[in-house]
Amino acid sequence: MNTVPSRYEKIARETFLPQIGKIVEIADMTAKDRFFRVELEKPLGHRPGQFVMVSILGLGEAPISISNGPTEDNFLEMVIRRIGRLTQAIHELKAGDQLGIRGPYGSGFNLNDFYNKDVLFVAGGLGLVPLRSLITPVVAESSRFGRVTLISGCRNPSEELYQDQLRAWTNAGIKVIRLVDSTENMPWDFDTGLVTDPVPTIEMDAEKTVAALCGPPVMYKFVIQALSARKLNFNQIFVDLERRMKCGVGKCGHCQINKIYCCQDGPVFRFSDLSGIPEALQ
Ligand SMILES: Cc1cc2nc3c(=O)[nH]c(=O)nc-3n(C[C@H](O)[C@H](O)[C@H](O)COP(=O)(O)OP(=O)(O)OC[C@H]3O[C@@H](n4cnc5c(N)ncnc54)[C@H](O)[C@@H]3O)c2cc1C
Ligand code: FES
Repeated sequence: MNTVPSRYEKIARETFLPQIGKIVEIADMTAKDRFFRVELEKPLGHRPGQFVMVSILGLGEAPISISNGPTEDNFLEMVIRRIGRLTQAIHELKAGDQLGIRGPYGSGFNLNDFYNKDVLFVAGGLGLVPLRSLITPVVAESSRFGRVTLISGCRNPSEELYQDQLRAWTNAGIKVIRLVDSTENMPWDFDTGLVTDPVPTIEMDAEKTVAALCGPPVMYKFVIQALSARKLNFNQIFVDLERRMKCGVGKCGHCQINKIYCCQDGPVFRFSDLSGIPEALQ
């Protein structure tokens, strides 16, 4: 029997073999969302907005956004919502347990598109998780950007993620607008409403503003309408699209929308690049 791996086996191993990460910190963020900090064998070297494929060996694999900003260290931060078989199993892990990690994958955001601009972030629900990987370097280098505003919305106060982080960004000088659809009779010190509500009155110079949106697809349509009313062009708006993914590397076609592969061409797209692809926002 030939034991020398073929060229194709070698490529498959290099592409699909995960590195092993050790969970070093776990924290509950909401009843269904858990924060994980994972120590890796080697640094990811990621860009903001990229994702990893996270696996429990023998059980399955899922795309999960990288939530920490670009870093040279060996740590990966994620927030994982318990939704099905794999994410339930990940929630049962303890500090010291292992996860398989492949990636980073996807286009991500390019900070050069944001330098010297007013920056508007709009996050809905879990969308704050990938946006944090972009907001972190923007806050760290704030003198290189104009006015920075974050509108962060979720259904009710018990679903708000990264509350300490939102306070820290406010203290660091960025304008953070926290909203819930409804308080549902829970204590809440901020506004109620939709993430589109503050857009008409945000202080920004439309000509030199860039917006980054991340949330459920239904949110994009209305936020983009509100931004268009403020005279932002589609090439000034970036959206982070989520699609079902299997391979993460452009091989299986699960994430395909017309001619684009969300896993490789996205998940971050300049909105003007999606013109003629109405399915992208469905
Ligand atoms: C680029 C990208 C980044 C992501 N980042 C995160 C993240 O940071 N945190 C996080 O918690 N989740 C994230 N997800 C979603 C995550 O991948 C799924 O929740 C996960 O695959 C579910 O796996 P499961 O085996 O637990 O659930 P399954 O048993 O596969 O599914 C359970 C239920 O969830 C639905 N579902 C599964 N995947 C998706 C999906 N992608 N979109 C909508 N519904 C889905 C199924 O239809 C089913 O109803 C991301 C997805 C993508 C594509
Ligand atoms: S997930 Fe396989 S091609 Fe994109």
